[in-house]
Amino acid sequence: MSRRKLIAGNWKMNGSLAANQALVQDLLAGIGQPACDVAVCPPGAYLGQVQALLAGSQAIALGAQNVSQHENGAFTGDISATMLQDFGVRYVIVGHSERRQHQAETDVHVAIKVKRALSAGITPIVCVGETLREHDEGMTEFIVRRQLSAVIHLNGDDVGRIVVAYEPVWAIGTGKTATPAQAQAVHAVLRAQLKAATSQADDMRILYGGSMNAGNAAELLAQPDIDGGLIGGAALKAADFLKIVAAAR
Ligand code: 13P
Repeated sequence: MSRRKLIAGNWKMNGSLAANQALVQDLLAGIGQPACDVAVCPPGAYLGQVQALLAGSQAIALGAQNVSQHENGAFTGDISATMLQDFGVRYVIVGHSERRQHQAETDVHVAIKVKRALSAGITPIVCVGETLREHDEGMTEFIVRRQLSAVIHLNGDDVGRIVVAYEPVWAIGTGKTATPAQAQAVHAVLRAQLKAATSQADDMRILYGGSMNAGNAAELLAQPDIDGGLIGGAALKAADFLKIVAAAR
């Protein structure tokens, strides 16, 4: 079993031409030859810019934050998987809790988006996670299993080609992190679910996301089933993001 860790920065709706340029330049200047895979996921409007800034870099891959569930056509404002492919996008975040919450994305939408991404050769990073209320009611396992099972159901054995990200909603942007033991327990549940679905489960990466930062990354990443991180706030500061990358080995 050898899983190369993945550290992905989710910039969310932040940045500007000037800020992106400074951030990517600082990342490229400091990253060297990382021991893990690294990706940055800028807003869709900046994919072309960041693609150009990353050109020639083996160290940092380009990711996107969303993909349409439709192939093409009259879907104003949507961006298709083949459009992402055009810009050299290698990863796409699918089913982030902010989209589930604010854009009413359902488990079924998420499952279809995963299929679109895979058919364009893009690796979906599929987010699952429970809200604070669900957490307090002891429903964590039920919720994450339900969210992942929709993706497994629609994608069958192809599910072996996805990355999963466990992002407890109560830990996102709050400074409250799941403890390494808490996160590991959920990751083990997800791994077991993947094992029942695909022979590739031991090679699949399950990332943790939710207030991961330069200070707590090493301890989280030391857990046996935590194979990387999906980083929000700390991905906007080159020094912090690079420290997380350095902790992933
Ligand atoms: P924070 O790291 O800001 O908590 O965000 C996590 C996240 O939502 C990454 O997708």
